[in-house]
Amino acid sequence: MTVEDGLPAAAEYRALRAAVGWPSPGPDICGAALENSAHGVLARDRGELAGMARLVGDGVMYLLIVDVVVHPGHQGRGLGQRMVRRLVEVAGARRVQLVAAPDVVPFYERLGFVRDPSHLMAYRSVG
Ligand SMILES: CC(C)(COP(=O)(O)OP(=O)(O)OC[C@H]1O[C@@H](n2cnc3c(N)ncnc32)[C@H](O)[C@@H]1OP(=O)(O)O)[C@@H](O)C(=O)NCCC(=O)NCCS
Repeated sequence: MTVEDGLPAAAEYRALRAAVGWPSPGPDICGAALENSAHGVLARDRGELAGMARLVGDGVMYLLIVDVVVHPGHQGRGLGQRMVRRLVEVAGARRVQLVAAPDVVPFYERLGFVRDPSHLMAYRSVG
């Protein structure tokens, strides 16, 4: 298993997300999204994508961790933890935030993240 800085190809990104039940937009949109990342980290097992995580944002004031995903066949072996730690290291003194699904809050708390009283709000147009 290798864990290194980098971003996956759009096809393997979509496949990894599908493996944890997340839908994705088409390859072109995924490719553009990955290209616009501030930083990425990925794990490979004999060349196959086993996990990834990335930072998005303006690179200075706002950095957000997104797409923290470990393939089900590789979960529970410290990969998620290693990848998030690497992104925190890359962020250095800059503030890092993320949006955690409720069941994953303890995973991030173990890594030193604290819950913020703010609420995530999403705008959805009607119809
Ligand atoms: C959440 C996820 C990234 C964790 O990756 P992982 O490689 O399995 O986690 P690790 O092996 O690095 O776990 C590190 C620690 O967190 C704990 N942990 C992992 N997943 C957890 C969860 N869902 N809830 C509570 N604790 C969890 C582990 O038990 C471990 O604790 P320990 O250090 O005391 O042994 C992975 O389960 C995943 O990809 N899930 C599906 C996608 C997802 O929900 N991503 C997060 C979006 S917010």
